[in-house]
Amino acid sequence: MFFKKKTRWYKIFDSAGAAERVVPLYKTDTILVNRRKICIAHTEEGFFAVSDRCPHNGFSLGKGWCTPEQTVVCPLHRYAFDLKTGRAKTGLADYVDTYPIELRPDGIYLGMTETIFTLFGE
Ligand code: FES
Repeated sequence: MFFKKKTRWYKIFDSAGAAERVVPLYKTDTILVNRRKICIAHTEEGFFAVSDRCPHNGFSLGKGWCTPEQTVVCPLHRYAFDLKTGRAKTGLADYVDTYPIELRPDGIYLGMTETIFTLFGE
C-alpha cells in the first residue's frame, strides 16, 4: 500500500475553560486549523467541529448557532446539519465534514485525517 491515512492532532484550545470563553454554550465560531476554516460548536454534550463552509451556498457556519438537538444552523437560509454525522437535517445540501475533538489534560485537540504517501509501507 502506497497511501496511508493518518490522523494528525492539533491543539485548538489550552483548556475547556478557554474554549468556553471563545465558544459559549449553543454558540459557534470559526477557527483556522492547518489552513482550513473549521466551525466549532458548543452544546451540552461538549464541543464539535465541522467544516465551516455551508454546502448550500458557501456561507460560514461559524456565524450561525447550534441547538439542543446537536445541530448547527446556517444563518443564511437556516439549513441545519447534524454535528455528529455532518448530515443535513433539511434542504437539499447533503453534508459537512466532521472532525473528532479530544479533551486532554493539556487542552482540547482536533483531529484531521491526512493521506500520506509511503514508498516502503509501515
Ligand atoms: S448558505 Fe447555508 S443554508 Fe444557504
